[in-house]
Amino acid sequence: MATFISTALCLVACVLLNVQGKNELVPTYFARKYKNGSYIDATIKSNWLKITLRPSSVLLQSSNTATLNVHPSLVKNAQYVNVTWKGVENASADDMIALYCPETSKDNDYYDFFNVNQSSTYSQGYGEYAVRLYNVRTNCEMRYFRCVNSSTGQQEFVARSNIVMFEGGPEQPLQIHLALTGKPTEMRVMWVSGTDQAPIVKFGRSKTKLGSVAEGKSQTYTADDFCSLQGKFIDPGYIHDVLLTALEPSTVYYYSCGVTGHMSSIRSFKTAPQIGPDVGFKFIVYGDHGILPAAYSTAKYVLNDVKNGYEFIFHNGDISYARGMEYIWEQWHALIEPYSSIAPYMVGIGNHEQNHIDDSGKDPSGVKGDGWHPWWGTMDDDSHGECGVPMFYRFHMPDNGNYVWWYSYNYGMVHFIMISTEHDLSPGSRQYVWLQEDLRNIDRSRTPWVILGGHRPMYTSEIDPENFVVALAFQFLFEDLLYHYRVDLAFWAHYHSYERTCAVYKNACTKDGIVHIVIGTAGKEADWPPYLPPNWSKFRRHVDPYGYGRVTLANRSALHFEYFVNSEERVVDEVWLYKDN
Ligand SMILES: *[C@@H]1O[C@H](CO)[C@@H](O)[C@H](O)[C@H]1NC(C)=O
Ligand SMILES: *[C@@H]1O[C@H](CO)[C@@H](O)[C@H](O)[C@H]1NC(C)=O
Ligand SMILES: *[C@@H]1O[C@H](CO)[C@@H](O)[C@H](O)[C@H]1NC(C)=O
Ligand SMILES: *[C@@H]1O[C@H](CO)[C@@H](O)[C@H](O)[C@H]1NC(C)=O
Ligand SMILES: *[C@@H]1O[C@H](CO)[C@@H](O)[C@H](O)[C@H]1NC(C)=O
Ligand SMILES: *[C@@H]1O[C@H](CO)[C@@H](O)[C@H](O)[C@H]1NC(C)=O
Ligand SMILES: *[C@@H]1O[C@H](CO)[C@@H](O)[C@H](O)[C@H]1NC(C)=O
Repeated sequence: MATFISTALCLVACVLLNVQGKNELVPTYFARKYKNGSYIDATIKSNWLKITLRPSSVLLQSSNTATLNVHPSLVKNAQYVNVTWKGVENASADDMIALYCPETSKDNDYYDFFNVNQSSTYSQGYGEYAVRLYNVRTNCEMRYFRCVNSSTGQQEFVARSNIVMFEGGPEQPLQIHLALTGKPTEMRVMWVSGTDQAPIVKFGRSKTKLGSVAEGKSQTYTADDFCSLQGKFIDPGYIHDVLLTALEPSTVYYYSCGVTGHMSSIRSFKTAPQIGPDVGFKFIVYGDHGILPAAYSTAKYVLNDVKNGYEFIFHNGDISYARGMEYIWEQWHALIEPYSSIAPYMVGIGNHEQNHIDDSGKDPSGVKGDGWHPWWGTMDDDSHGECGVPMFYRFHMPDNGNYVWWYSYNYGMVHFIMISTEHDLSPGSRQYVWLQEDLRNIDRSRTPWVILGGHRPMYTSEIDPENFVVALAFQFLFEDLLYHYRVDLAFWAHYHSYERTCAVYKNACTKDGIVHIVIGTAGKEADWPPYLPPNWSKFRRHVDPYGYGRVTLANRSALHFEYFVNSEERVVDEVWLYKDN
């Protein structure tokens, strides 16, 4: 009844407040902005100019002394380069410089462009602008186009740049990320390159002697694998997957990955500890990351924490927000690589990776038709046709469930479970049955703590009517299951804000309930709706909430959670969970 009343209250309040849906824009490759500072949304097709070339006259060609230069010409992945141009006649603000990878691409197959008025001297025919380039396993070049008619957008080719090459070339190991398998004697190493030669990892306990070698497999995907292609596809290269086995638990290993002749720099990782009730550790948790500036800020602090002993990252959905614009995956992987190559990076699926409305039969999670679209839900087309394909190929999570969608693993004194809130969770559904079995089989004498992650929250007090109804449905569908098996802590995201509950069951604080934490604060634009004041909500923040969670497992009866806010460089909320063992 209380639930019903709060729902009714919300619906009334929400309608009155006229809360709008969120616009999850995707930045262009260069993250171009409007004058007012907001990002141009690359998913809106009209934001991509079509270059209509007017042939230059013979006279103009002979008098053309314009030059375009990219410096340096040999660049690291994700490095900034300076683009300079000079000698351009009759330059206008509508002139543009576009990026081509490979350099043989047709004029309209550009990655992105910028208008020359990014440089204040553009009208005098010269200028300078810095952009960031990513190794997409080919060379690149830039081209200057003069606008000859601003009302028709007709362009004229003016100059092409030097060829830009990437350090290590197409074979360079990129986007290195580690993953746990559930066994402390194993570590999975994944990366991307442009070659399908046999991928290897050389590893060992000494930095100067990588005495062991493991070989793995490579795979790739094409635009045809998507349920529908709504954005811009780029070849993702080969995704390599090598499993290291027979490792010592809690031990530092050094490694280098690649193919013979093209090996990465040496990195290190620490294997998972033995599983047992007294094995403490600490890890990082966040959701809703992406590649906007706040995501960079989170990455900076997380890298520092990982270097200081946080052992892995638990990212519960909404990963890169590529949404069909596939260069975003390259940019996001480059962003996390400093820490995903030294600590395992565990992912769960979010609506922006999974939800689709195409009944193409291609959804790799194995669901039929267009997936899960319950009448009370907001599961729509949020992946823009990706339908989990990039996630499925780019990540290899523990093999005991359904790939990246649902799985579990033990780590020290914790049993971790990742679920997909984008797949059916009704009693009797495939996922529900798996979850029930998984929970039933936990040996609490080995892993006294149980931590669950999913994307859409079961508890939130944010006034957002559609998602609030989803939370109520989740309580109805599987709160009893989690409560019955004494899940201790549940992490959610989806809301770009932070909220922590008391130990709660059926909307009331109770000692043996579950603590729910929404930590969708890793970088995507913050939510703005106000909150209802239920008594189970203990802390919430949606004004400048950017940050992430840190969890320390002290012992079998004490766990510490902290919410770190980037802009304040401090923990703004923390809680100890205690239990009797
Ligand atoms: C900024 O300008 C763009 C284009 O004119 C517009 O679509 C957008 O709503 C503006 N954003 C803000 C915050 O005013
Ligand atoms: C780009 O130019 C700026 C100043 O013009 C300079 O400080 C910077 O080092 C240059 N960057 C590269 C990568 O050459
Ligand atoms: C620049 O504009 C002048 C005046 O309209 C014109 O004579 C000249 O041909 C133009 N040059 C180029 C390269 O378009
Ligand atoms: C640069 O020129 C373009 C095209 O005319 C325009 O849309 C944009 O607002 C201008 N940018 C600045 C910073 O003036
Ligand atoms: C630009 O194109 C429009 C439409 O075709 C035409 O009316 C106009 O004369 C053109 N302007 C110039 C400067 O060529
Ligand atoms: C909190 O609210 C719930 C539902 O409205 C109610 O059942 C419960 O008694 C309340 N708890 C406290 C401590 O006020
Ligand atoms: C568990 O850790 C907590 C917090 O550090 C501490 O207060 C408590 O004494 C510890 N319990 C045991 C049994 O070591």
